Formats: sequence, C-alpha cells, structure tokens
Amino acid sequence: MKSISAEETQFISKLVFDVSGLHLDKDKGYLLETRLSPLLSLHGYPSFMQLYAQAKADKSGKLVHEIVEAMTTNETFFFRDTTPFDLMRNKIIPDLIDRRKKVFQSGKIPIRVWSAACSTGQEVYSIAMTLIEMFGDLSRYDIYILGTDIANKVIAQASYGKYNQFEMDRGLPLHYRKRFFSQVGTDWRIRDEVRSLAQFKLMNLMKPFADLGGKFDLIFCRNVAIYFNQSDKVRLFQKIARVLQPDGALVIGGSETLTGIAPDFESRSYLKGIFHQLRGQTAATPLHVMPSLPTRPTAPPVKVNPAKPHVPASYPVSPKAPESRPVGLSEPRDYAPLAKTETTITSHSAGAELEPAARKETTPPIPHPAQLVPSKTKTSLLAALSSAGKRPSSSLRPVSQGSTKTSLLEQLKRKNKKSNE
Ligand SMILES: C[S@@+](CC[C@H](N)C(=O)[O-])C[C@H]1O[C@@H](n2cnc3c(N)ncnc32)[C@H](O)[C@@H]1O
Repeated sequence: MKSISAEETQFISKLVFDVSGLHLDKDKGYLLETRLSPLLSLHGYPSFMQLYAQAKADKSGKLVHEIVEAMTTNETFFFRDTTPFDLMRNKIIPDLIDRRKKVFQSGKIPIRVWSAACSTGQEVYSIAMTLIEMFGDLSRYDIYILGTDIANKVIAQASYGKYNQFEMDRGLPLHYRKRFFSQVGTDWRIRDEVRSLAQFKLMNLMKPFADLGGKFDLIFCRNVAIYFNQSDKVRLFQKIARVLQPDGALVIGGSETLTGIAPDFESRSYLKGIFHQLRGQTAATPLHVMPSLPTRPTAPPVKVNPAKPHVPASYPVSPKAPESRPVGLSEPRDYAPLAKTETTITSHSAGAELEPAARKETTPPIPHPAQLVPSKTKTSLLAALSSAGKRPSSSLRPVSQGSTKTSLLEQLKRKNKKSNE
C-alpha cells in the first residue's frame, strides 16, 4: 500500500470536506491511505497527489465523487438504537395521526418521512416495517418514505433492498424477517409491500435542499452530522427546519445533540426517548399548507420487480431560499452534478452503480419499472388506460421526470391560492 504524505492528506481532506462536509482530522491520514488505496490501484495512479490532481482536473466530478464515496462511513443496521422506533410507534405517529385525522376526514392521510443519509436502507425499511405493523391496513394512509445519501453504492443497495446474512442478523427480529423478506440464495430481499413505500435518491446534505417534493412529518437525520463541523451542522439543521411540518418531528442519533446547533428546535422526551420539534410550533399550529389531495387514478396492477414506485402526497416547502455552503468554500463546488441532479431511483434496475452521465440533468431519466415491462404489455396497458378515459397513472411514468409531481403541486398551489382568495 502506498503511503500518504502530510501534504497529500491536507489537500485531499480539503477536497473531501469542501464537497461533502466530511471533516477529517489532520491525524486521519491513515484513513485516507486505507480507503483511497483501492482507487489508486483501480485507476493506476502512482501517488495520492496524482489522484488529487486528476480529481481536480476531472470536470465531470466523477473522480471527486469516487473519493468522497470512499471516505464515507456507511455503518448502519436494522432498528438501530431501537428507541427511535419505539418513539415512532408509541408517540410520534399516533399523535400525528390524531391531528391529521381531523383535517383529512375523507381521503387518505399523508405520512411523509425522510431518512437523510440512509446508507444501505436499513433505516428506511425499519421505518416502513414499523408503519406497516402499526397500521395493519394501509388503505387509509398515503405513506411515502424518502431515503437519501451522498454515496451511489449505498443508494443502489438500498434501492435493491437486498441484504446478506450478516446484515440480516444485525437488529432485525426474526418475525420481521419472516414477514417482510424473501430469501434469494444466501441473501434476503425486502418484499414489495415494504419496498413500494420508499424512494431513494442521491443527495448531498451540504447542498441546497431541492426536489424534496414537499415538507415531511418525520425526519430521521442520524449519525451523519457527527462527521460535520459546527457551522455545517448549524446550516444543515436550519435547512431541515424548513422542510419539516410545523408539528413534525426530527429524530437524531443517540449520541448526538442539537444544543448550541439548532435553536429552531426544542427537544421533547417521551419514555426513554428524545425527539425534536420546531420551537413554538406544536400541535396547535396549523400545517404549513394543508392541501386536499386530488385522488390519484388507479392503474391496473403492473407486475414489476420491485414494487411500483410511489408518488407521494406532498406538502409544499416554504418558499424561503435554502441555505447553501458559504461562498468561501466554492473552489471544489464545480463538482455540481451530484447536488444538481439528485437522481431518483425507483427500481432495482437503476440500482446498479450510477455512472456520472446518469446524474447529469441532460441525461435521459433512469428507466421506470413500467418501462421494464415487455413493451407489448405496456402498450396494451396504456391503451387500456386511455380507452378507459384515464390518464396513465403517475406510477407509470418516470418519477424522476417530476412532471406528475410538478403538475400535482401546481394543482395544489392553485387550489390553495383559490381558497385563500
Ligand atoms: C453512519 S451512516 C448513518 C446511516 C443511518 N442514518 C444510521 O444512523 O444508521 C452515515 C451516512 O451518511 C452519508 N453521508 C455522509 N456525508 C453526507 C452528505 N454530505 N450528504 C449526504 N449523505 C452523507 C454516508 O454516505 C453514510 O451512508
């Protein structure tokens, strides 16, 4: 293994920090050395300085992203720390449903959850399994769980929903395995019933929050801010505050605190757990916007694998401009593709490593599961829909195009504007 010099450590640490916020101490040279050595071999660079120089010269941002990705710590497991899931089950979700029931007397109750920095998806699926277990019958709810992470590889695995025996043995009670997973060789795959509640996207938390599709009722942001410096933590939780419903809840990691970091939030404890809510905005505060959601046309079931992607009910985000990193850190921010593109992955076919081209805005969208249906089936399906006088359901179009979401939002905005007039 090549050894890394102090200068190389300094340069590469700054590059990683500027792009991802990941803060590497000066004495973490060994970490860079171990994690980046495979990249040296892969690309045949003779030194870390060469790797750095190439990354700076590579306008596509691919190499920088490879470096950042190699430096991420993706440790996660099912029902990590258990308390947040107990909180969800016994306090956060029941309270939310009580309040939402009054507003959504007819129609489905939207529940939007975001797992920011979801790694390989165990957190997302733990949330989904908890909700399914709580509700039994989901027909009264419109559940949407978004998982985002900066690293391609983990988002690909999360989207595919496949776990090896070691991952399954970490935190997942046996009855969940039996109920929600199918065995595939020696691995296990999450069932469509659970998978269909989730969407996964690449997203850099250091960039402005764009394309989140609305506010969230519950946000999990656990074990990622620990890698950021103080000012990045402050900015991160400011941005999170703007995408949380007024009565929504934020859950952070067991060893983390918001003290001195997020004045927008106040903590609440319940039994042994702590969650955070926006200061002064609790149950009594009306939702930011409470749209009455148009009924979605239901398409005939399309047999695709994994389950159909979900188009969420959405609450618009406050129009206030999102914060970005300080201009002083602009140098490596020509690494724009990652934040600009936030690719939505709705199918395991798209779950393979994403090439940078797939992250560019000009690139055709990732195939939607419906596009994986033999074209004959798809044609007859679309024909059946149009002869029934229905527009193809949004679940038949690539979600990443955003057209459905946009028009849905437009409709909501117009509706809200009208009712306000
Ligand atoms: C330790 S894992 C936490 C996973 C999960 N939230 C949990 O608590 O089990 C941290 C994750 O944060 C992601 N990450 C690091 N920097 C990020 C950034 N700037 N934006 C988005 N995700 C980031 C990493 O890729 C990694 O998967």
